[in-house]
Amino acid sequence: MTSYVAAIDQGTTSTRCMVFDRSGSVVSVDQIEHRQIFPQAGWVEHDPEEIWQNTRQVCAGALAKADLTTADIAAVGITNQRETTVVWEKATGKPIYNAIVWQDTRTDEIVAELGEGPGGQTRFHRKTGLPLATYFSGPKARWILDNVDGARERAKNGELLFGTMDTWVLWNSTGGPDGGLHVTDPTNASRTMLMDLETLQWDPELCEEIGVPIEMLPEIRSSSEVYAHFRKRAVFGGVPIAGILGDQQAATFGQACLAPGEAKNTYGTGNFVLLNTGTERVISENGLLTTVGYKIGERDTVYCLEGSIAVTGSLVQWVRDNLGLIGSSPEIEQLAGDVEDNGGAYFVPAFSGLFAPHWRSDARGAIVGLTRFVNRGHLARAVLEATAFQTREVIEAMNRDSGVPLKSLKVDGGMVVNELLMQFQADILGVPVIRPVVNETTALGAAYAAGLAVGFWSSEEDIRSNWAKDKQWDPAMPTERREKEYHQWQKAVTKTFDWV
Ligand code: G3P
Repeated sequence: MTSYVAAIDQGTTSTRCMVFDRSGSVVSVDQIEHRQIFPQAGWVEHDPEEIWQNTRQVCAGALAKADLTTADIAAVGITNQRETTVVWEKATGKPIYNAIVWQDTRTDEIVAELGEGPGGQTRFHRKTGLPLATYFSGPKARWILDNVDGARERAKNGELLFGTMDTWVLWNSTGGPDGGLHVTDPTNASRTMLMDLETLQWDPELCEEIGVPIEMLPEIRSSSEVYAHFRKRAVFGGVPIAGILGDQQAATFGQACLAPGEAKNTYGTGNFVLLNTGTERVISENGLLTTVGYKIGERDTVYCLEGSIAVTGSLVQWVRDNLGLIGSSPEIEQLAGDVEDNGGAYFVPAFSGLFAPHWRSDARGAIVGLTRFVNRGHLARAVLEATAFQTREVIEAMNRDSGVPLKSLKVDGGMVVNELLMQFQADILGVPVIRPVVNETTALGAAYAAGLAVGFWSSEEDIRSNWAKDKQWDPAMPTERREKEYHQWQKAVTKTFDWV
């Protein structure tokens, strides 16, 4: 009798495999980080083969740590960093270029050129839910085809395959060059700028205009169904792969944001706030994305409004690795706790331009408000506060789009162990912030999608009843101070524009 479901979480900094039991509790986890490759300013790459090796290793590791065998696993779900783009040879499985990561800004010229047509930056907005920006996969694939000799011709001939990381992992898990399955789900496809949000199909006109041959794209299936089984030689040999969700949609599902009006914020490399809008595609007028939330089998598609923030947790890593201000990420909380406030300093981490709600690829990072009074503690505080201020910006946009102010915010991800940040987040939003017992909602969401497809969980009600609150932070900052701080932040943001 199989008692567990596993999830592969292929994230921006690491790849993990987690095993869950029926109550949604974590049974085991294995994790390996991969190299971040920065060939020049604004470029970020990953080695897809390194990631595939790591994937195999963490699957074996998670099973071994729980003393389980393949026979104990009912199904496996895949979740992934979204938008990151790989192009590889169908016959050999060799990538023709490194994966171009979602944070990479090298497509700025392609994007500017596409925006010259009527409609400008919002040219494809109605059909795709997305503004023209360097963030999305379609232009990244176009860049690879433009810059690798002969690639475009080979793609048209069906010799090359395109995939986001879900597709790369699935294709390799199911045989690679020996009959690997080339599919994706609508949550990932909705981040390419090539899919029509209504039909959930690749749009030939978009493919033509953006310059990506439709022949190289994977088939779009639902987020929860049995796609295939792991190839026999794999760690999970013979186990069904039955769920695919982009990581932020997976976290939304794992947080049980299953009804319109429910929202979560994940604090990872970046921050991503997703608000469930049900079967309605709300097209934002305030700089948010419209994205597929999930599609469970044959059931209706659920959509979300999303506020994507490029740099939050990765700012803490930058302060650790590039400035050496702290030795390990958790130390930032202690350093920030040495002072009462930010001492007047504000840090706007526009390392990849600014995403929601600004969509400014010409922005670059800035620290403003410096005086000789400012010390390491104040800077540490400004680093943490940047995450909370950016979150408020996207929540305000969401409130304007939906017309219904958010009453509380469910949170998850690495930074939610930081009590100082969570209290400041509640203070600056003016609403309670709530953390669940199982904070690993990304992997859990993918496990749920897979488990639902094989009957391991019977309905979304199981997801709701498994969710439990761990801790809540209530706003404690006086309104006047809250608004003054936020006003200063907004001024700081304007200092980052027009840098490139
Ligand atoms: O859109 C990018 C997002 O999916 C990355 O998430 O958690 O890997 O930083 P994460």
